[in-house]
Amino acid sequence: MPVTAPLAPHGPARGLNALGGVSEHIYQVLQNNNANMAMLGIPPQPEPEDGLWEDVAVPQARARRKAWINSVLNASQKEYLRFRFPRQKGEEPLSSDLQALDQLQKPGSLRNWVNSLVQAKKENARPEKRNLIIPGTIGSGKSAMACAVGNEAVERGLGVLYVKHSTYVTWLRPDSAPGNLTAEKVRRLYATCDLLILDEVCGGMNAVATDFVEKESTDLIDARNAAGRATLYTTNLRGRRKPDSPNRGLAIVDILGGRFVSRMEEAAHVLRVVGPDRRQPEEPLDW
Ligand SMILES: Nc1ncnc2c1ncn2[C@@H]1O[C@H](COP(=O)(O)OP(=O)(O)OP(=O)(O)O)[C@@H](O)[C@H]1O
Ligand SMILES: [Mg+2]
Repeated sequence: MPVTAPLAPHGPARGLNALGGVSEHIYQVLQNNNANMAMLGIPPQPEPEDGLWEDVAVPQARARRKAWINSVLNASQKEYLRFRFPRQKGEEPLSSDLQALDQLQKPGSLRNWVNSLVQAKKENARPEKRNLIIPGTIGSGKSAMACAVGNEAVERGLGVLYVKHSTYVTWLRPDSAPGNLTAEKVRRLYATCDLLILDEVCGGMNAVATDFVEKESTDLIDARNAAGRATLYTTNLRGRRKPDSPNRGLAIVDILGGRFVSRMEEAAHVLRVVGPDRRQPEEPLDW
């Protein structure tokens, strides 16, 4: 007896579609733009299982979570999605595939900062400490801390995006951003989210930045500061050179200039992380 596959509401992504049919790609475009699918003869899609569509907060929360996860995936940093703050008394334990920050990563201070952002958003006010700077040595756990903040903040109603500093400036160059993002869309996206995780500030920049990098980086945080939006920065570098150790390599001020550092420091809190390189194997490699 021939087996008949259930009829898909739309045709294959590639290849021939029936005359007047809709390809997978066109279907997605129409759906993403809220087209009336019934007019195309496409049957209504099933209601979500939780049946909560009448509450607009549900799809909004899903969209926020999706945007956050996509931003982390676009940076190939999927493993950081599992980091959470350690649970407090009375809270559900973490599920087995999640990983809690440890005490070196100051989860209490991070949690307090997220609380202050959530509170400010509820009151439509500006958080007192808008910017959080996490400097620290290589492998000390900064990105895990930053992403734990993002993972918690997005669940608590903030729109959060993750991007590495060097990726952000690369995406502003012609035809460099993923998908169909133009430079202007990239600028708007990262300037307007409630909380931006700007990981590895000056990562891979070993010399004075070009005018382009300096201007775009400064414009981004200028726009965020002016609108009272929060930014979390991580970096392996110092902000400024210390008078007692002037030869300790470049500081951010040497690479991006004083205008950038001054904006980073506006209404900022610093949470230095000190610890060994967590990537080092227990037994040092001999090579
Ligand atoms: N609390 C933790 N428990 C277990 N593993 C952790 C924890 N925090 C971080 N790690 C792991 O340690 C490694 C280094 O952490 P992470 O990438 O956050 O460091 P980093 O300071 O951002 O490093 P870099 O300076 O190179 O960017 C990663 O593999 C990460 O998954
Ligand atoms: Mg990192």
